[in-house]
Amino acid sequence: MTMKTRRFIFWTLACFSLVGLIAAVSFSRQPTIIHARIAEDGGFMPDSIKARVAKPLKLRLISDDVVHTFAVGQFPMQPVTFKPGESVNITLTFDKPGTYTFYTTTPSSSNFWRMRGVIEVTGDGEPQAAESPLYVRLGLDLDGEHESDEEHIELSNQPSAERGAVFIDQIPAIMFTSDYYVSHSPMETFEELRDEPALHMLNDQDIWDVVANVWAQNTTSAALMDGEKLYQVNCAACHGENGAGDGQFADEMKAIAEKNNDEHGIQAPTDFTDAEHLLEARPVILQGLLLRGGMGTGMPMWGTIFTDEETWGLVAFLYSIQFEYQGVHQ
Ligand code: HEC
Repeated sequence: MTMKTRRFIFWTLACFSLVGLIAAVSFSRQPTIIHARIAEDGGFMPDSIKARVAKPLKLRLISDDVVHTFAVGQFPMQPVTFKPGESVNITLTFDKPGTYTFYTTTPSSSNFWRMRGVIEVTGDGEPQAAESPLYVRLGLDLDGEHESDEEHIELSNQPSAERGAVFIDQIPAIMFTSDYYVSHSPMETFEELRDEPALHMLNDQDIWDVVANVWAQNTTSAALMDGEKLYQVNCAACHGENGAGDGQFADEMKAIAEKNNDEHGIQAPTDFTDAEHLLEARPVILQGLLLRGGMGTGMPMWGTIFTDEETWGLVAFLYSIQFEYQGVHQ
């Protein structure tokens, strides 16, 4: 082989390797493109992505129709909004293996909550926590609970935690434990307090004020604030800004419910301002319904999206629609 030929081979190989290297580097820098369309037109595409622990996952978000939002459940990121005609690049780095759910917080249609996908993250590390929900551990039936409406609840004033504080010394200490709180409805607590000899001088309104105080003591202002924020972003489109069951999709869902008259099909969103309904519900059941969803009623399942702490904040926020916490929680 002549010197010239050798040099030629050397440079050819060098060029090929360089091109290969550049291609490999730029390919690894290429983001995965995610297209978004309203749920009826396909939702997020693709809806399944793979990633490695500690390796940055680059995504390019492109909307094919209206404004959408991209958020990942149980992962600390702010939802990212992207409009049609623009593409938004984001980079996510996971430090725990597991299956993460991505979703939208923009109510683009009444099926907006069906716009979901998963990111399968593999690699080393303690897997993302997956303790089974409390209602499962306690073996409770989420669907058997909401039948009891034998009691009529009469409230002349909204129960006030601050007014209830006056009687706090006479309230059984067990009521301030979280085990008690999660497993009792406000109505059950009302009935137990009504039977307390020490409280027999109080009228029903006083007792409801005490119940409001017990509920206030079982949460914190931080949990309530987080709960309200999550509620306004994820729930108000159906349940309404004030919880009255009158969000932007409520009429549509109500009309379907009336037309089909099927208890397993689409229902009108629950009205949390209805005392008879909310005050008879136990925290563990509300949390369970929130985690599991309504299985066909139109109530989404949120179990893969919120952390345990976030769901308790949401539940605490729902009760705060019935109770006045001013003076106890700012
Ligand atoms: C797409 C509409 C929709 C969205 C969004 C939605 N819900 Fe619902 N939700 C419903 C419907 C419909 C029901 C009634 C289901 C039934 O009657 O079985 C319901 C029921 C519930 C219940 C059970 C109430 C009970 O006492 O039976 C809870 C708790 C609840 N929603 C909380 C939430 C929270 C918290 C969010 C936000 C994180 C949320 N929902 C988001 C539609 C929605």
